[in-house]
Amino acid sequence: MKSNRKILLLLGAITAYYVYLPIPEEIEEKWKLMITDSFFRSLSHLADLSERLGLKDYMGVMMFITFAERVVPATDERVRVTEEVFDGVDVVVYEPGQQGGGRELKRAVIYMHGGGWCLGSSRMEPYDLLARTMVSELNAVVISVEYRLAPAHPFPAPFEDVYRGVRFFLQGHVLARYAVDPGRIAVSGDSAGGNLAAAVAQQLLQEPDQQVALKAQALLYPVLQVLDLNTPSYQQNQAMPILPKTLMVRFWSEYFTSDKTLFRAMMTNSHNSPESAVLFKFVNWSSHLPESYRRAYRYSAPRPDSGGGGAGSPSSSPPFRAIADPRASPLLASDGSLSTLPKAYILTCEFDVLRDDGVMYAMRLRGAGVNVTHRHYSAGFHGALMFTVWPTDFQIAHRMTEDYVSWLRDNL
Ligand SMILES: *[C@@H]1O[C@H](CO)[C@@H](O)[C@H](O)[C@H]1NC(C)=O
Ligand SMILES: *[C@@H]1O[C@H](CO)[C@@H](O)[C@H](O)[C@H]1NC(C)=O
Repeated sequence: MKSNRKILLLLGAITAYYVYLPIPEEIEEKWKLMITDSFFRSLSHLADLSERLGLKDYMGVMMFITFAERVVPATDERVRVTEEVFDGVDVVVYEPGQQGGGRELKRAVIYMHGGGWCLGSSRMEPYDLLARTMVSELNAVVISVEYRLAPAHPFPAPFEDVYRGVRFFLQGHVLARYAVDPGRIAVSGDSAGGNLAAAVAQQLLQEPDQQVALKAQALLYPVLQVLDLNTPSYQQNQAMPILPKTLMVRFWSEYFTSDKTLFRAMMTNSHNSPESAVLFKFVNWSSHLPESYRRAYRYSAPRPDSGGGGAGSPSSSPPFRAIADPRASPLLASDGSLSTLPKAYILTCEFDVLRDDGVMYAMRLRGAGVNVTHRHYSAGFHGALMFTVWPTDFQIAHRMTEDYVSWLRDNL
């Protein structure tokens, strides 16, 4: 009896220790976030263990999150759902149902889900719900792109899938088939999906034969650069739920390669080639971040890998070229090319390693003359907008969704 009770107490203590995480005062519904995060952390530890034992690789185990929230997107009285293939790329198409429909041309939102390019699916419940909300609230057609994922399909495969799907949709006869107004189309996405949306918006402008232009881009806590993984937000939030720095760095490295030496170099911010030093000016947070985000952090430029170890590859090898590629790091676009981009909505969260990526992009776009709506959530944490489904539903998610959708209503 006695020893049973001791074991129970010990288990309780371990659980409390495991679940308890110092969470900043500003964050609402702290216990809910701690419990949610302890699930993510347990899964991550399990995934680590599994990879170490040679059972299943880390991302393979983490995919459990995706499967756990999987739904079969279905037509109901308000939203018609079809699964289509756009030039070889799977997409889920959400259209207003009979009641909402009507004959008039509709707006369209092309949406890319998050998940660090390695996880996630447009068929997860929060994405399905968000798409339905947009259809109902905006009388819009929503295209949710099911791009291939790293590490099985590393960069640029996820980008290229998205790009092919978008280019296919933007053809006159395809837009006509869905009764979409060619003047009212936006790209959007959260986290890694925001990265893909921003990259697509940039690359479309490079196409000499592109007829239809985007009207808007809406980026939700986007990932926008890999050159400097030690921005103030990376430092401040390195242990923050639900995206600690180690996980974001893992996503970045696996987007390019499964070679662990890149992960280790990224963790020490020494993954750049000497050649990419000329690009540091585009991600220099000392000049692009307002002081209110820089705070007391002292800038030092990333230390380029001298080739003697570090990422362990010569600077011409694919990871290094990918690091300097604006299709992976949209913040690397020059001011000249930024200036022609469509107007932008950028949502950032205070407690997010990616905060400064979004803030810097907002500042650089504005500086280049683009109309930017920057919404900063001082109580926000990474991924918050997707926590709309019980039991992991957060009030902040509903506020964010409302603001995001109302911006689209006014600007698309
Ligand atoms: C970064 O910006 C600061 C302030 O503008 C400047 O002093 C520094 O030289 C810049 N460093 C790099 C690597 O661009
Ligand atoms: C930017 O967009 C807002 C609407 O979202 C509009 O009121 C404003 O006039 C625009 N500013 C410029 C400079 O175009």
